[in-house]
Amino acid sequence: MNSGDEIAIGRLKSRNNKVIFDAPLLIVVSSPLKGHFDMLDCGISIENIVIAAESIGLSSIILGGMRVAFMGEKKPVYENLFCIPKGNQFVAAIAIGYGDMTGNPHELNETKITRIK
Ligand SMILES: Cc1cc2nc3c(=O)[nH]c(=O)nc-3n(C[C@H](O)[C@H](O)[C@H](O)COP(=O)(O)O)c2cc1C
Repeated sequence: MNSGDEIAIGRLKSRNNKVIFDAPLLIVVSSPLKGHFDMLDCGISIENIVIAAESIGLSSIILGGMRVAFMGEKKPVYENLFCIPKGNQFVAAIAIGYGDMTGNPHELNETKITRIK
C-alpha cells in the first residue's frame, strides 16, 4: 500500500488486499539479476512452469504484482517468508491450482508481428 504504485494499489483494494487467494501451491522465482540474460532465463522458466502445470491438468496464474511487497520496508520480512536466497531478488510468482474458470486463447495480434519473406 506504501509503494506509490497506483495501479497495484487499486488492484489490491478491489480484491480485499488478497493476492494469492486459495491456491494450494505458489512457486516463487528469484534471481541475482546480475547477468544480461537473468530476466530472460526467469521468463523462460516461468513459461515452462505454466505449460507444465497445464499439461497435467492444473491451472496457473503468473503474479508479478507481488513485487510491490519487496519494494517497501517489509522487504526482508517477505524475503524470509518466501525463502528467497540471499542476494536474489523477487521476479515473479506462479500460483497453481484447479481453476474456477476457463479462458479462451487470445487472438493473434498481427500488428505486433513482423513477417520477413
Ligand atoms: C509477467 C506477468 C505478471 C503478471 N502479474 C499479475 C499479477 O500480479 N496479478 C494478476 O492478477 N495478473 C497478473 N498477470 C496476468 C495474469 O498472469 C494473466 O496473464 C492474465 O490474467 C490474463 O490471463 P490470460 O492470458 O489467460 O487471459 C501477469 C502476467 C504476466 C505475464
